[in-house]
Amino acid sequence: MNVIRSVVTGTGSYLPEKILTNYDIEQKVDTTDEWIVERTGIKQRHIAAQDEVTSDLAVIAAERALLSAGLDASEIDLIIVATSTPDQTFPSTATTVQRKLGITRGAAFDVQAVCSGFIYALTTADNFIKAGQAKNVLVIGAEIFSRILDWEDRTTCVLFGDGAGAVVLTAMSGTGNVSDRGILASRIHSDGRYSNLLYVDGGVSSTGTVGHLRMKGKEVFKHAVLNLASVVGEVLEDCNLSSEQIDWIVPHQANKRILDGTARKLKVSPEKVVITVQKHANTSAASIPLALDEAVRDGRITPGQVVILEAMGGGFTWGACLLRW
Ligand code: ACO
Repeated sequence: MNVIRSVVTGTGSYLPEKILTNYDIEQKVDTTDEWIVERTGIKQRHIAAQDEVTSDLAVIAAERALLSAGLDASEIDLIIVATSTPDQTFPSTATTVQRKLGITRGAAFDVQAVCSGFIYALTTADNFIKAGQAKNVLVIGAEIFSRILDWEDRTTCVLFGDGAGAVVLTAMSGTGNVSDRGILASRIHSDGRYSNLLYVDGGVSSTGTVGHLRMKGKEVFKHAVLNLASVVGEVLEDCNLSSEQIDWIVPHQANKRILDGTARKLKVSPEKVVITVQKHANTSAASIPLALDEAVRDGRITPGQVVILEAMGGGFTWGACLLRW
């Protein structure tokens, strides 16, 4: 049976120049490098320059993804930006990215699912491609979380950073079985009952302010490992594959202990998990495409391999995509 598959034809990423180490944060709040590394694995994060906005980060990542795909921006017919830290309340960051890339056709919109944003955006793009409504889609995760952190709250400010990552998804024909290249399965979930465990205490229609990130870390941690292992199980089952057949897991980079815990629960060896959290902390929707780009460029991920992307974030939202590279 002939089917349309969404194949990743290019990846790109961008981290702002300024690096803030744990030692730098020791000067701001009562914390230590030792505590942060032991509890999270994070050693440093990148912080956007004062005159940089989220779309600036997104555009650089997108240009790098286009270059690696060998596509011109004019060939893109849909842009989806996953972000919780948009340039403005409106227009969407995606339309700003569209303008900055010089694209005047097609459509562009944002997706808001916090740390799961990239999985939500990828799933949305895949559905547009499978429906025949788009051929080349730019899917971008871009965040400047440093602007919604309470820099006096040591329980949260040590955990996050800024960055952007992008992929180009291209429609290609497949046979309909799991030997096809491209996205083979994706699942997204949410459960709004847990919105009080991870949220921002401001908003346009509530306080009229941007607000600061608040989190009950221990509770989030417990839900994360359970939900992530379960949704990875779902996409494996959709494809009739077992966890031994996974070549790479590219998870949302929140905390090394969550990554290790999820791998253990799935019985996947830690060597198959791409980990970048030590270098850029939790960059929310940007973290998966940042890690993916690194593992593709350094040659770890190669054509034909089974790759799983997974994330969980505020809402709660969570999801996973299974691809054959
Ligand atoms: N430096 C030093 N001490 C700290 C710091 C800090 N930065 N932050 C908290 N502490 C203290 C607390 O005050 C507490 O002290 P007390 O015992 O005197 O009260 C002690 O350390 C332990 O605090 P806990 O919150 O119980 O520490 P825990 O082991 O749970 O680690 C952490 C906290 C790292 C936030 C952990 O719960 C976690 O990673 N949770 C997952 C949250 C997450 O990553 N969310 C990201 C978004 S969701 C997602 O992406 C999956």
